[in-house]
Amino acid sequence: MYKTLIIAFISALMSVVVQYGPTAQAAEMTPATPDHAAITSAGGPEACLKCHETNPKVVSILATPHAMKGDKNAPFGQNGCETCHGSSTAHVESRKNLPSVLFAGPNKSSVEARNGQCLGCHQDNLRMNWQGSQHETNDKACTDCHTIHVAKDPVLVKATQPELCFTCHAEQRADANKFSHHPIVEGKVTCSDCHNPHGSPGPKLLKEFTVNETCYTCHMEKRGPMLFEHEPVRENCLTCHSPHGTTQARLLVERPPYLCQECHANSGHQAQPIAGQNLAGQTAANVRAMAKGCVTCHSQIHGSNSPNGTFLTR
Ligand code: HEC
Ligand code: HEC
Ligand code: HEC
Ligand code: HEC
Ligand code: HEC
Ligand code: HEC
Ligand code: HEC
Ligand code: HEC
Ligand code: HEC
Ligand code: HEC
Repeated sequence: MYKTLIIAFISALMSVVVQYGPTAQAAEMTPATPDHAAITSAGGPEACLKCHETNPKVVSILATPHAMKGDKNAPFGQNGCETCHGSSTAHVESRKNLPSVLFAGPNKSSVEARNGQCLGCHQDNLRMNWQGSQHETNDKACTDCHTIHVAKDPVLVKATQPELCFTCHAEQRADANKFSHHPIVEGKVTCSDCHNPHGSPGPKLLKEFTVNETCYTCHMEKRGPMLFEHEPVRENCLTCHSPHGTTQARLLVERPPYLCQECHANSGHQAQPIAGQNLAGQTAANVRAMAKGCVTCHSQIHGSNSPNGTFLTR
């Protein structure tokens, strides 16, 4: 008890030193990762800004959470600009020497070096599965998606995020512009509503473990359980739908009756709806079937809760 109080007091004292003390000293005392602690500071952000304050792009970082001096978890609460750019004493002495970590331009550091700076603070929560993820194994850098020197990082904004992803994922751009699509280009749904680009325990970087769990986060009414289930719906929504966009209405991969006939094509009205034979016991052609196909009658295609819903008609 007494001991914990002393420790609490000392660490409170240390954080004051870290915030207000000379930066070189802060470097030694900051409870950060070894990488960050090893930096011999060139003198805080002010020293860098002496030369860089005329570049509006550089200065825009001051409006971001990274520039919170009072937050000892933030770069400016630690070694300022050097928390990310690494030791830059030599650069301050002569601009012919570059800072030790560069994120852009022809001299940019290796992907490992760049990501290492970010992961020193951000290997948490959303990024639990970063190692081994599709983006990590394909040598993608945090800064391929994130922009740091900007007031609001475009990848964090619903409306601007897709454009960034589309620069590498052209197929999804094409899909999102098809006749039927999730309202992605409209800015109502965005990639990270369904995907975690930092890695996932499920397939295709999905946020949830399965496709269906991902869909249920918004289409809750499809979760069931239903009195009468339609087997393929429980198995995988993508048996009938495509997630980004299709040329058929309702994001369908194919139009009924063809969609249904892939599985229901034995005989009777399922096989010949257009000709109209044997439609639900009728012998004449049924115009409703001709016009719209199977879901005109089997409207509860995702399952039914009606006691009379055996055939998914109500
Ligand atoms: C004496 C002036 C001066 C100081 C002090 C200074 N820089 Fe620079 N820095 C420059 C000049 C000039 C350039 C090259 C032109 C440019 O990119 O603005 C440059 C370039 C850079 C670049 C881009 C390098 C590249 O090739 O892509 C980074 C990053 C950088 N400085 C970071 C820092 C950091 C961090 C500090 C503080 C530790 C700092 N600078 C202090 C003058 C300075
Ligand atoms: C959180 C990490 C981080 C911090 C802190 C940081 N930078 Fe950067 N810096 C970056 C990244 C990443 C880039 C690449 C461009 C981008 O994402 O905006 C960059 C790019 C630059 C460039 C090149 C800009 C250009 O014109 O291409 C300069 C110069 C620079 N930083 C200077 C600074 C200075 C000065 C500070 C402190 C005031 C600072 N940086 C703090 C991460 C950081
Ligand atoms: C010294 C620790 C530290 C380093 C290094 C660092 N960050 Fe951060 N970052 C923070 C803190 C603290 C926040 C604000 C609290 C939060 O959102 O978790 C933050 C916030 C963010 C945010 C959210 C910004 C917002 O507007 O909400 C992003 C994105 C981010 N960091 C990406 C990066 C990337 C990419 C790098 C590497 C270039 C990096 N960070 C380096 C500590 C750090
Ligand atoms: C393929 C693009 C992409 C890459 C690569 C990427 N991010 Fe992100 N990041 C995003 C998107 C999109 C979001 C918004 C997530 C959301 O809204 O759920 C985000 C959000 C964040 C946030 C803010 C949310 C939070 O966790 O508090 C941080 C911090 C962050 N990323 C850090 C990183 C770091 C560190 C790396 C590198 C290891 C990285 N990101 C690599 C796309 C990416
Ligand atoms: C700098 C290029 C780049 C950017 C930007 C980028 N990606 Fe990727 N992405 C890749 C590469 C490369 C792969 C792995 C190869 C592949 O499957 O295409 C990949 C894989 C994926 C996968 C997994 C595909 C699979 O088959 O398992 C998803 C999902 C994904 N990215 C979503 C996103 C999202 C969402 C964004 C925006 C937040 C984004 N990506 C931004 C390059 C990028
Ligand atoms: C409504 C949810 C949802 C949204 C929004 C979404 N995706 Fe997907 N995405 C999925 C699902 C589900 C899959 C899995 C497809 C499969 O298994 O065949 C997928 C697969 C992918 C793949 C892998 C494709 C392949 O053929 O293997 C990439 C790349 C991808 N998405 C990128 C994106 C990008 C980029 C965005 C934003 C423009 C985005 N997604 C928006 C649900 C979504
Ligand atoms: C982030 C929320 C969200 C997630 C997750 C989501 N959707 Fe959607 N979905 C929407 C929105 C919003 C609409 C448009 C509703 C509207 O326009 O009335 C929509 C519409 C649809 C439509 C009808 C399209 C049309 O043209 O009428 C289908 C089919 C659909 N989603 C299937 C899926 C499938 C399959 C998944 C899982 C891969 C999924 N959704 C995941 C939000 C989501
Ligand atoms: C057996 C094929 C099939 C499967 C599997 C399927 N759907 Fe559908 N879905 C359809 C058809 C057909 C329509 C069009 C119904 C109409 O036009 O009235 C539709 C329409 C929709 C719509 C828009 C109309 C509405 O009912 O809200 C959403 C949203 C939707 N499906 C979500 C899902 C989700 C989520 C899953 C997975 C849990 C799923 N679907 C699985 C065939 C299917
Ligand atoms: C991927 C295969 C598949 C697709 C596609 C499919 N179904 Fe089914 N459907 C099944 C299975 C499996 C059952 C349950 C098996 C059974 O009871 O005969 C079923 C059951 C049904 C039933 C209830 C029949 C009964 O005897 O209980 C109806 C009605 C039905 N489906 C209509 C449709 C319609 C309409 C479509 C197109 C929108 C469709 N199905 C698409 C596989 C599929
Ligand atoms: C005019 C309304 C109507 C249309 C259109 C219709 N059905 Fe049916 N369907 C029914 C009714 C009613 C039943 C109940 C059993 C019966 O009376 O034959 C049924 C039964 C079924 C069954 C289960 C019984 C069996 O015969 O195996 C399946 C599977 C089925 N329909 C699939 C389809 C498919 C696939 C289509 C489109 C190609 C379709 N239906 C179009 C009304 C319709």
